Amino acid sequence: MSPPDVITTVAALRATVRGWRDAGLTVAVVPTMGALHDGHLQLVRVALERAARVVVTIFVNPAQFSPSEDLDRYPRDEAGDLRKLAAVGAQVCFMPDVGEMYPDGFASAVRIAGLSEGLCGASRPHHFGGVATVVAKLLNQAGADFAMFGEKDYQQLLVVRRMAADLDIPTEIVGVPTVREPDGLALSSRNAYLDEARRRVAPMLYAELGAAARDLGRGAAAGARLGQTRAALEAAGFDAVEYVELRAAETLEALDLIADRPGRLLAAVMLGGVRLIDNVPVDAAR
Ligand code: PAF
Repeated sequence: MSPPDVITTVAALRATVRGWRDAGLTVAVVPTMGALHDGHLQLVRVALERAARVVVTIFVNPAQFSPSEDLDRYPRDEAGDLRKLAAVGAQVCFMPDVGEMYPDGFASAVRIAGLSEGLCGASRPHHFGGVATVVAKLLNQAGADFAMFGEKDYQQLLVVRRMAADLDIPTEIVGVPTVREPDGLALSSRNAYLDEARRRVAPMLYAELGAAARDLGRGAAAGARLGQTRAALEAAGFDAVEYVELRAAETLEALDLIADRPGRLLAAVMLGGVRLIDNVPVDAAR
């Protein structure tokens, strides 16, 4: 398939989308930070099922990294990304530079209370504000019917959905199930940082979450059961368990027991300096 058209300015993106709209075509946008893997490509495939034209955005957003995080060494592979996007058939790749997204004098920020606090927000207090700000801009710039986000970043998905609803952005936010390696490890650009030994430990995160989700679904109390999960993860070789928590799937309120509301079990762990996150649904066993 032909490579996507590369667009670097907001004005050119708007003109392209306007042309599609004038031709009666539907549009989806897939926001990414590049270093594309099959999880991203799955978002593009789902986008192509929903819409006639797909814009993939690639922008490593400085506003969502703290000074101690990996902004400078975040993996980048522009040529590889464009080849992958050509293979799946995305029509446009929007790759603005930092000056285009945050010109001199930029002074605004979007803050989503509640959903941004706790879980990943506890150790990364500025992260979701940076995500919400850049996604609000990207949604306004693209003016798409649909925007695709992976469930791998479950808290991010809910933050973005809340933000779009609160700010009256008329783009439907679509959550797409996590794509996994055959051994269960959720695909992530940061998996590239794992050495061979740690790569063998990493899938235990999904295995332990799955085992705990089954017990919670059968009525186990989170307080007691998740202590076991923490201990099992530490024994498996993770350096630290940042959190492992049962929350309500729609609101992220803390839950101790699964009753009639669907739950979500979410975790973040450290492995050799690499921070891994994952989550699984928890439903009451019938
Ligand atoms: O999930 C990501 O890659 C980023 O947080 C996003 C949504 C592209 C915003 O920069």
